Amino acid sequence: MTAVTDPVTLMKQEVGKAAAALVKSGSIVGLGTGSTTAYAIQFIGERLQSGELKDIKGIPTSFQAEVLAKQYKIPLTTLDAVDHIDIAIDGADEVDPQKNLIKGGGAAHTREKIVDYLANEFIVVVDSGKLVDRLGSVFPVPVEVIPIAVTPVMRAIEKLGGKPQLRMGVKKAGPVITDQGNMVVDAKFDSIDDPASLEKTLNNIPGVVENGIFVNCVDLVLVGEVKDGQPAVRKLD
Ligand code: 5RP
Repeated sequence: MTAVTDPVTLMKQEVGKAAAALVKSGSIVGLGTGSTTAYAIQFIGERLQSGELKDIKGIPTSFQAEVLAKQYKIPLTTLDAVDHIDIAIDGADEVDPQKNLIKGGGAAHTREKIVDYLANEFIVVVDSGKLVDRLGSVFPVPVEVIPIAVTPVMRAIEKLGGKPQLRMGVKKAGPVITDQGNMVVDAKFDSIDDPASLEKTLNNIPGVVENGIFVNCVDLVLVGEVKDGQPAVRKLD
């Protein structure tokens, strides 16, 4: 196997490993979506297989997380079968200094919000490129929309000052379809001054299922960095 040398991949592996190390035996674990969380899922699986970790149940936030959990032999459960989640580990597309997030780069933000908000401890894993002074600096806000409402929702987003774009598939003709069978409108705002207010306003548009602004819900952000050529993990708490 060839060793990984790409710095971003190295940072993702290190934060994934650091987050997986925080999972305790007997826990119900929310399993996030994306390329960074994928490493956390892998390392949780490795800890289980080595016997270091016992009696874990995972709740996946997407089809991707479910497939990875099965690949790494992490037993799964559902929200119907448990009355709490101990810890959730998930990635993000942007993190501001107050630990508010934009998520949904993988179109999984609706299930991610349900699972991550239910967790007693929500850990976010990112590489340092995701840190921003203000949400919306780089990334648009993903908005999951019921298919028949896409056009009116895009008009409503324009009225709010956003630039909406229907997310299109890669290696698939036509729009991205979420795990719930809906579509995603990416809404670019020049500046998000009040993330909590925009989150509520977007969710009040008829036809919107959920948007990717996460406010006041994060306990700890693990940031992967490269220091002196070596990957390192810093805590933002
Ligand atoms: C998926 C997400 C992801 O967590 C987010 O896009 C970050 O992904 P990655 O770790 O691949 O950069 O919100 O909906």
